Amino acid sequence: MKLLGIDVGTGGTRAVVVDEQGSIVASNTAEHAAFASPQTGWAEQEPHDWWRATTEAVRGVLSQPDVSADAIAGVGFSGQMHGAVLLDKDQEVLRPALIWCDQRTDAQGKAITNKVGAARLIELTANPALTNFTLTKLMWVRDQEPELWKRFRYFLLPKDYVRLRLTGERATDVADASGTLLLDVANRRWSDAMLDAVEIDKSCLPALFESSEITGRVSAAGAAATGLREGLPVVAGAGDQAAGAVGMGIVRPGAVSATIGTSGVVFAATDRPALDQGGRIHTFCHAIAGRWHVMGVTQAAGLSLRWFRDRFGLGDGAALSEGADPYDLLCKEAAGAPPGSDGVLWAPYLMGERTPHLDPVARAALVGLAASHTRAHAIRAILEGVAFSLRDTLTIFAEMNVPVESIRLGGGGARGQLWRQIQADIYGREVEILAAEEGAAYGAALLAGVGVGAWSSVDEACARAVRVAARVEPDAAASALMNKRYSAYRALYPALRSVAEAAG
Ligand code: XUL
Repeated sequence: MKLLGIDVGTGGTRAVVVDEQGSIVASNTAEHAAFASPQTGWAEQEPHDWWRATTEAVRGVLSQPDVSADAIAGVGFSGQMHGAVLLDKDQEVLRPALIWCDQRTDAQGKAITNKVGAARLIELTANPALTNFTLTKLMWVRDQEPELWKRFRYFLLPKDYVRLRLTGERATDVADASGTLLLDVANRRWSDAMLDAVEIDKSCLPALFESSEITGRVSAAGAAATGLREGLPVVAGAGDQAAGAVGMGIVRPGAVSATIGTSGVVFAATDRPALDQGGRIHTFCHAIAGRWHVMGVTQAAGLSLRWFRDRFGLGDGAALSEGADPYDLLCKEAAGAPPGSDGVLWAPYLMGERTPHLDPVARAALVGLAASHTRAHAIRAILEGVAFSLRDTLTIFAEMNVPVESIRLGGGGARGQLWRQIQADIYGREVEILAAEEGAAYGAALLAGVGVGAWSSVDEACARAVRVAARVEPDAAASALMNKRYSAYRALYPALRSVAEAAG
C-alpha cells in the first residue's frame, strides 16, 4: 500500500508518495507563479495556478519508478493556511486569493475586535483578529469590492480549493480552519457566535472534519486531470503547520519544532487549548482529535535570506554549479563571520510581524554596521536574527508553562550545519535533526495512511515513520554570547517603532 501527500504551499505544490513503513518512495514539486503584490503588503495568488501545479506535481510523481496509480490507497492534503478563496454559486473563483502573508486588512481586524471585544474574541476563537486570518480577508473584500461580494457564495482555504477540483467536495479540517477566526477552536466546530457577529452565512463554509477523516473520493474529472484512480479516498489533512508537525513527530506535549520555511514557526503540541491572553501566539487544533497546538510565527524567516539573495545576489565569484543550492552558498559565505556577527543585528520584519509584536506595519532593519563589516556579517546577522525571532516564541511558551522537552528543526533552517548550530546556540539547548524531513506533504501522507487504515493512529504512524538522525549541542561560549545578543535584539523592535513614529 502507498500513500500520497500533497502540500499546496506558497512557492509550489509538492507531492510525496510513502510506503507503509513511512519511507519516501517518490516526490515531485511543481512551482507556483510568484505571488502578486500589487500594493505594499498585499499578497495574492491564483487558485487555478495551485490546481495546475497539483496536476503537474501528481502526474510527475506517478510517473516515477516504483509508483503506480493503482498502488496508491489514499490521498492527504496539506496547504498554506489562512488564504481566502472566494467562489460564486457555481463554485467558480471570483478573484485572486488573498493569501496568508497579505497585510492589507488591519482596519478589518480592528473592526472585528471592536465589534466582538478583544477578550470575547479569544474566548470564542482562541485567537485575536490578526491580518493573516481569513475572516479579515473576507471582510476586506466585503468592504472594498461590494459588487464582487454580491456574487460571493462559498469560501475555501487554499488546499481545499484543490480538494474541490480533485473530489468535487467542499471540505476542510479543524487544524486549517483554526486559522480562519471562524472556528470555535476549543470545541472544534464552526463558531455560530462569530458568524452571527460578522453576519456571514454558515452555508458559505466548507464541511468540517478531523484531519485523518475521509472527506470524499477522487472524481472522474479529478482522475482525468491528475492520473489518480477515480474513487480513491481523500482525507481532510491539515494546514501546513499541523501537517508538518505530524511529519516531524510533534504530536505529544513536550515535543516542539522550529521550522524555517518562507515563514518561521515554533510549534508545540498540547493536550488543551493553551491560551496566551495577549494573543501573541496562535492556539489551533492539532491534526489529531483531542489535541491542540500553540505556535509562534515569524513572517519573514527564510524569506529574509531569499530577500537578500534576490536583492544583493551571491558573492563575487560565487558561481552556481549545476544542482547547487544558492542558500548553501550564502550560508558558506556567512560562516566567514563569527557568532554575533561582530555586532550586526537583523530585525526580520520584512512583512510586518506576528509573534510577538502582532504588528502588520513593522519594518525590517540591519543595524550596527561599520565600514569593516562584510557581506558575511550581513548574511550571518540575518540567520541569527531569524533564530532570535523564533526564540521569542520559546520565551512566550516559558511564560505560558508550555513544556519544551525537545526541539526538532525543520525546513531550510535544518539543512545547513551553520543554521543548525546558530539555532542550538540561540535556543540554548540541543536540537534534533530528522532522518527524513520532507515537510508538510509527508505529514499529509501519514494522515492519509491513518485515514485508510495503514496505521491505527497518528501516534503510531509517527512512532513507525519518524527517526532522529542527529543531535546538535549548543556551544557554551557562543550560547552565552547569544544570550547577550538576544537582549540587544529585544531592544530593536521598540526602537524601530519610535523611528517609524518619528517618520510619520
Ligand atoms: C501559519 C502561516 C504559514 C502559512 C504559509 O500560520 O501563516 O505557515 O501557512 O506556509
